[in-house]
Amino acid sequence: MFDFSPTAPLDKPELYRELVGSARALIDGEPDGIANMANLAALIWTFMPDLNWAGFYRLVPGTPDELVLGPFIGKPACIRIALGSGVCGTAAATRTTQVVADVHAFPGHIACDADSRSELVVPVMREGVVIAVIDLDSPLPARFDAADARGIEALAQAIAAHI
Ligand code: SME
Repeated sequence: MFDFSPTAPLDKPELYRELVGSARALIDGEPDGIANMANLAALIWTFMPDLNWAGFYRLVPGTPDELVLGPFIGKPACIRIALGSGVCGTAAATRTTQVVADVHAFPGHIACDADSRSELVVPVMREGVVIAVIDLDSPLPARFDAADARGIEALAQAIAAHI
């Protein structure tokens, strides 16, 4: 049994330090990327309050122009997202973190869960190439700030070689 959960209450920098440390421990020595992404989605869900969706979209061999749904927690979601489309496709195409306070104000936002009000998407890069994005949705407006972005970027860096 794994028991990874925050030693609450934590401020955001402390929470992300614990999240990244737990992530490293969870995926250490496991070569299967799908298994690691599944556990990481569950870990994010455990650590971060006020989410309605948490998971991965991946770039896979053979379809370089679209992201494909990976392991996640939440309602069933759109399977394929064109690079440049929506929040996830924008993050992957521009290789930049997207912090969206109001998804309805984001041009081209792809609504997978009607409950989503704000969103954070962070590219996962390996050797300078985007291999996936981490996508987090919240039912609260403006749920994510710069501290969340930096924290999930640190997570992305820690896991890039293991997914
Ligand atoms: N909202 C995302 C689509 C994925 S779902 O949020 C799970 C987007 O605009 O790319």
